[in-house]
Amino acid sequence: MNQRTPVRRTASAALALLVLAVVPGCSGGVEGRPGAAGLRDPYFPRLGNGGYDVTHYDLVLDVDPAAQRLRGTATVTARATQDLSAFHLDLVGLTVDSATVDGRPAAVSRAGQKLTLRPDAGVRLSEGHTFRAVVRYSGAPRTLTDPDGSKEGWLRTADGSVALGEPTGSMTWFPSNNHPSDKAAYDIAVTVPEGLAAVSNGEPAAPVTAAGRTTYRWHVGEPMASYLATVAIGRFDTKNTKNTEKSGTAGGIEVFTAADRAVAADSTRILARIPEVVAWEARRFGPYPFASTGAIIGHPGDSGYALETQNRPFFPGPPNAGLLVHEMAHQWFGDSVTPESWRDMWLNEGFATYAEWLWVADKEGVPVRDSFDAAFRDDANWAFPPADPPTAADISQPPVYGRGAMVVDEVRRAVGDDARFFALVKGWTKAHRHGNASTADFTAYVEKATGRDLSELWSTWLYGRSRPAPKG
Ligand code: TRP
Ligand code: ZN
Repeated sequence: MNQRTPVRRTASAALALLVLAVVPGCSGGVEGRPGAAGLRDPYFPRLGNGGYDVTHYDLVLDVDPAAQRLRGTATVTARATQDLSAFHLDLVGLTVDSATVDGRPAAVSRAGQKLTLRPDAGVRLSEGHTFRAVVRYSGAPRTLTDPDGSKEGWLRTADGSVALGEPTGSMTWFPSNNHPSDKAAYDIAVTVPEGLAAVSNGEPAAPVTAAGRTTYRWHVGEPMASYLATVAIGRFDTKNTKNTEKSGTAGGIEVFTAADRAVAADSTRILARIPEVVAWEARRFGPYPFASTGAIIGHPGDSGYALETQNRPFFPGPPNAGLLVHEMAHQWFGDSVTPESWRDMWLNEGFATYAEWLWVADKEGVPVRDSFDAAFRDDANWAFPPADPPTAADISQPPVYGRGAMVVDEVRRAVGDDARFFALVKGWTKAHRHGNASTADFTAYVEKATGRDLSELWSTWLYGRSRPAPKG
């Protein structure tokens, strides 16, 4: 991603270099070339863009839930990783009303999911330079249908909407480098009619109401992948409390919860267990990675699934404890340690499923071995190897979850000793905290930590196409 365009040694380029050398923040003055349109993800090759690295998104949204329309301003702060003549952001639907780069009007073009910005002639995006793109946009954000048939993007709900972005849907409501490999900090401000709430990731500021509209502001200081960004708009009962768990690792963080009023009474008991679950997981997986936690509980009909939106997972109706444990485990596995590409999904779902196995073992006395055996016997888990789903439609399928969890348990058996196994898990979440990791990173990490060649374990459980003979 850091290849440099050779400097063209013309007199004017040399002059431009001389002039730009004295401008702070700009190194070199070559024209550059367009950043890549697409990061060649194995399943979604067009997602994401090359030539820059986003450090911060500032999103200001004005939403009309009745019309399901919004008006937005996205300020994207990014560092050029090559000399850029133009670059792309991912955005589907909506109308781009105007754009600037470094304060000067930029030329805008659209093709498919690519929004292309070409900076004004006076703006140089040299490698290493941090630039700011401001995109003003409006319209009715779309709902997308995933390869697996589920709905994502901007979903209409009974009294508002919810934005869910796994794997691609965030590009329906803001322009971004829409690939998990480019994580960034966020500030998200959402204005809605008074009486509705807008709940997002991170920590809230006090809402401000003026002229019948209320603005909710959310700050996400830790890096977040675009697929984990959310905004839920509706009639919510909200609570903001300090985590009073005394476990140390999760104590003191803020717990912000929002439950749709239609399900608020039924949600109270499970929401009250969040501090317990976070502390229980922190003891096994290492320190909770974010400044706040919580949950958003919508209507059962909002989406067919829960999602591990950063800081506070989204649930379509009150979850049971197992599902809460699963989505909270993703805060470590997925949200903090984020897949390098969509092929590495089992690192999310395998660990989140394993967290459920650990939970029922601890709370209900069901041995992990029983959960393993049930998953082992289930033919659905053997459709394909977890580290190599055949198509984009498969990244949410049982082998990624159930067999992914079997991989984790096989690692545990290889390690043998429980104290050493949990030290290894904590070391993993620490090594890639707030970053990205691939399957190759995981296997290399485990082999280094154990000092063993585990190639047979990987070839059987991660990559093997057939079910091995059951163990005695
Ligand atoms: N990650 C979600 C979970 O297990 C499930 C999910 C929702 C999903 N949308 C997806 C998985 C798209 C893969 C792709 O909690
Ligand atoms: Zn999951």
